[in-house]
Amino acid sequence: MATHSFRKIEYLMTSLLVLAVSFALPEKLQGTMGDAVIFPSAVRKGGSLINGFTTIGKVTNGQFTALPNEQFRGRVQWDSSTGNLSITGLKMGDSGTYEILNNDDETKDKSFQYHLTVYVPVLAPSVIVTHDEHPCKLLCTVGRGTQVTLSWYREGESLIHTPLVNAPYHLPVPVYENENYTCVANNSVSIEMTSVTLGDECAVKSQPCSDSDNTWLIVVVALTSIMMVVSLSVAAYFYFKDERHLTCRRRRCQSQGQEMTNINGLHQANGGEGVPLSPENNSQVQ
Ligand SMILES: *[C@@H]1O[C@H](CO)[C@@H](O)[C@H](O)[C@H]1NC(C)=O
Ligand SMILES: *[C@@H]1O[C@H](CO)[C@@H](O)[C@H](O)[C@H]1NC(C)=O
Ligand SMILES: *[C@@H]1O[C@H](CO)[C@@H](O)[C@H](O)[C@H]1NC(C)=O
Repeated sequence: MATHSFRKIEYLMTSLLVLAVSFALPEKLQGTMGDAVIFPSAVRKGGSLINGFTTIGKVTNGQFTALPNEQFRGRVQWDSSTGNLSITGLKMGDSGTYEILNNDDETKDKSFQYHLTVYVPVLAPSVIVTHDEHPCKLLCTVGRGTQVTLSWYREGESLIHTPLVNAPYHLPVPVYENENYTCVANNSVSIEMTSVTLGDECAVKSQPCSDSDNTWLIVVVALTSIMMVVSLSVAAYFYFKDERHLTCRRRRCQSQGQEMTNINGLHQANGGEGVPLSPENNSQVQ
């Protein structure tokens, strides 16, 4: 019996939760400051537009009335041909919850819930070089925009990005290559980007002497050095070749004499048991 009641309560709770969740999840709408937002559900004959708990517009028997309201004065509209309700000239303060109560079918009201967020569109970000030697540093600044993501790309590849921020906001990036860098500022209602391509001064292997005059000088000096080294080597080669030739000839005479003595010694040590060394054998050994 107790288990049964518990089951019942559990079922009731779950149902309530599902009901609550379905009511608590209004449709999300995005608006751009200064522009209009048109609510997706139309009202043909009768209904009302409610901001928070305040009714700001009413349609009765196909006639529209904007209710007196300081915030929305002159900005709540109804299009009789489409039945669309809208708010024009959006302000940041218009963000919030809205409800359209539709009683076109007089037997029952239908409720449509919305949550509107008004965004300031981004301005094109500005990019400046704050350090122009390797490693260079670029600074991207977005001057206007709400709920913005600022990102840096190198040759189209993502490098770094911010979480959601409000302008003004700066994002620096160190630069090691002379490549194309793009800063992108975006939010839900807009996207803008600025690209720069940096020079060799930002690359890893930056050469301090890159003037054409210096290059010529370096080439001339290098060629002269190479020629001098080659000439010296050639001269040295011939000099030492002659020297070696002489020593070698002298040495060969000496060593030939030594070999003769050695062979004679060997012949003696063998004591005549081995094969006597004939002049032919001798030449074979050599
Ligand atoms: C205005 O109403 C028409 C007809 O109901 C609908 O098709 C259209 O999508 C609405 N416009 C907007 C911007 O919601
Ligand atoms: C840099 O890259 C962006 C996007 O890839 C491109 O639109 C832009 O023209 C490039 N800029 C230069 C100077 O190459
Ligand atoms: C901005 O762009 C980034 C990268 O494309 C994206 O991940 C992000 O969702 C965008 N932000 C908004 C608010 O649309």
